[in-house]
Amino acid sequence: MTLDDIIKNDTVKFILSGGKGGVGKTSCAGAMAVLSAKLGFRTLVLSTDPAHSLSDSFNQDLSGGDIVPIEGVDRLWGMEINTQKGMEDFQKAMGGSMSGPDVAIASDLMGDLTGMAPPGSDEAMAFGKILEFIEDSSYDRIIFDTAPTGHTLKLLELPDLLDSWLGKMLTLRQRMSSMLSNLRGMFGGGSDAEDDSWKMLQQTKDKIRQARIELSDPDTTQFVVVMIPEAMAVFETQRLLASLNSWHIPATHIVVNQLVPPNPDCQFCDKRYKMQQNNLEDIRDLYKDMDLTEVPLFDGEVRGVDGLEKLGSILIGQEG
Ligand SMILES: Nc1ncnc2c1ncn2[C@@H]1O[C@H](COP(=O)(O)OP(=O)(O)O)[C@@H](O)[C@H]1O
Ligand SMILES: [Mg+2]
Repeated sequence: MTLDDIIKNDTVKFILSGGKGGVGKTSCAGAMAVLSAKLGFRTLVLSTDPAHSLSDSFNQDLSGGDIVPIEGVDRLWGMEINTQKGMEDFQKAMGGSMSGPDVAIASDLMGDLTGMAPPGSDEAMAFGKILEFIEDSSYDRIIFDTAPTGHTLKLLELPDLLDSWLGKMLTLRQRMSSMLSNLRGMFGGGSDAEDDSWKMLQQTKDKIRQARIELSDPDTTQFVVVMIPEAMAVFETQRLLASLNSWHIPATHIVVNQLVPPNPDCQFCDKRYKMQQNNLEDIRDLYKDMDLTEVPLFDGEVRGVDGLEKLGSILIGQEG
C-alpha cells in the first residue's frame, strides 16, 4: 500500500506523522492534511508536540486552544493541543468532575496507593483528545503531527498504562468499599449511597480499550515514519518501529526526506550527497518490506498551503 492509497482510503481515520526532531514530521502532516481535505475528507490536523510548529507550517495561528478552519483549504481544520485547555478536556473525556488541585492531589494519592505513577499530563492530554475524536464523527480523518520519538512513545504506551492503572484503581475501590461497609456494620451505621464513580472508571476503561482496538487496526490507523538519510535518524527509526510494532500500531510507510541532489562541482555538496546515498542504500535494504517515499530537499522551506501542496504531490508520487 502506498501513501497515496492510505490517503485515498476512506476507512483510514487516523494518520500519525512521527520521527526524530527536524526531519519533516510537521511538513508531512500538513501536506497529508491538505491532500486529504482536497480529496473530500473532512480533515482535522492536530499537533501533539509541545514545541508546536503547525502554525508556522500553515502560516496561520492555530494555538488558540480551539479547532479553527484552515484558511485556503475547504474541509480542513487545525489545532495545536494546548496544555491548559487539554487538561480540562481530558478530565471531561475521563468523565471526571474534579478541578485542578483536586486532580493533582487525587492522582498523587492514587499513585502512592497503586504503586504506579499516574500518566504524565502532556501525554494524557493528547490521548484525551484521541479518545474524544474516536467517538466524534465530525471529522472523517484526523492527522496527528506528533512530537519527536521519545515523547510520542510515551503517548502511545498510555492506553496500556492507563488501562492497568484504572484496573488497579477499580480493585482498590472495591476493597475500600467492602472495608467501609464492614466498618459500618461494626458500628451500626446506615448503608452507603451508591455513587457512580465505579461506573465512570469502567466506562473510561472501555473507551481506552476501544482506542487500542482502533489504533491497532491497519484499516483505521497508519503511523507514517518520517526520517532523513542520516545514521542518527536510522537508529531512531529502528527504535520507533520496534516500539510501534510491540504495541501493534500499524506502520508500513516511511518518508525519506531532504535528499540532496548530486552536484559534482561542489565538493561539500558532493560529500553530503555521497553520505546520504550510502545511508539510503542501507535504508532501502533495512526497510525493503515497507513502502518508501523519497523526497528531495527543496531550495526553500516548506511553508503555507502552496508549499505543503508541493510536498504533498511528491508524497503521492505525482511529481519528483
Ligand atoms: N524536503 C524539504 N526541503 C526543504 N525543507 C524542508 C523539507 N522538509 C522539511 N523542511 C523544512 O525543515 C524544517 C523542519 O521541518 P518540520 O516539518 O518542522 O520538521 P519536524 O516537525 O520533524 O521537526 C522546516 O523549516 C521545514 O520547512
Ligand atoms: Mg514538528
